[in-house]
Amino acid sequence: MEPILEVDFVTKHFGGLVAVRDVSFTVKRGEILGLIGPNGAGKTTLLNLICGVYKPDKGKIKFKGEDITALKPHQICEKGIGRTLQIPHAFPELSTVENITLPMLFLQKDLKGKEAEDRALKILEFVGFPRDKYYVPASNLNTLDLKYLQLARALASNPELLVLDEVTTGLNPTESKKAIELIRKIRENGITILLVEHVMRIVVSVCDRVIVLSSGQKIIEGKPQEVMRNRQVIELYLGEKFRMEGQP
Ligand SMILES: Nc1ncnc2c1ncn2[C@@H]1O[C@H](COP(=O)(O)OP(=O)(O)O)[C@@H](O)[C@H]1O
Ligand SMILES: [Mg+2]
Repeated sequence: MEPILEVDFVTKHFGGLVAVRDVSFTVKRGEILGLIGPNGAGKTTLLNLICGVYKPDKGKIKFKGEDITALKPHQICEKGIGRTLQIPHAFPELSTVENITLPMLFLQKDLKGKEAEDRALKILEFVGFPRDKYYVPASNLNTLDLKYLQLARALASNPELLVLDEVTTGLNPTESKKAIELIRKIRENGITILLVEHVMRIVVSVCDRVIVLSSGQKIIEGKPQEVMRNRQVIELYLGEKFRMEGQP
């Protein structure tokens, strides 16, 4: 089967810095693909390239066989790629529900306000958002609420591919576990997931396949268990500790 997403030799510079260098990979329909690597590895930049926030200096990105490299973020969203941001944001004066319906009404001109609201409520229920906060201004929401709000907003665009940037960062173990269960539930609903994570343990527990980035380059790709045993990956994550303990 044709991959849902194809990233072909994509490169992105910021001035003299190469944030992403010649990265290629595919995402298969229905899988949860993990993208991991240390801080500054280029994970968020790669997501921004896929979602059209940045244009690659070199390379090509295809979604369902179509070249989307030159499209604008809202066009890519309309094609079926939804995303969350590493640092969640919301319109502070608007309620939770309004924060979800606003982009829906912007993207789907024929959608009625009431239909948008019903759909927003269904999605909020699906992600397990606290009911007593549906109609409070987003300025009253805490960080965890904001994460779920932006996930709900991404789902409201009806994505076929959902791109998640460090959703579990800053969550306690119980909250992380719930988030992972939700990610699995989203995939069971037929949505393909590209998951950026800093924490190896989470990637191993949820991903079918993993890609490791380091200094903008893909260093390995494979099943989580295999990747975790890779020497280069171990050194990348434990490098400092390794050296201190006198290991080779
Ligand atoms: N808009 C930008 N302008 C300049 N440098 C950037 C920008 N975005 C990211 N970078 C740099 O690119 C590199 C990769 O960053 P990023 O993609 O955020 O990494 P990660 O998400 O893996 O932590 C870092 O060195 C970062 O400082
Ligand atoms: Mg990042």
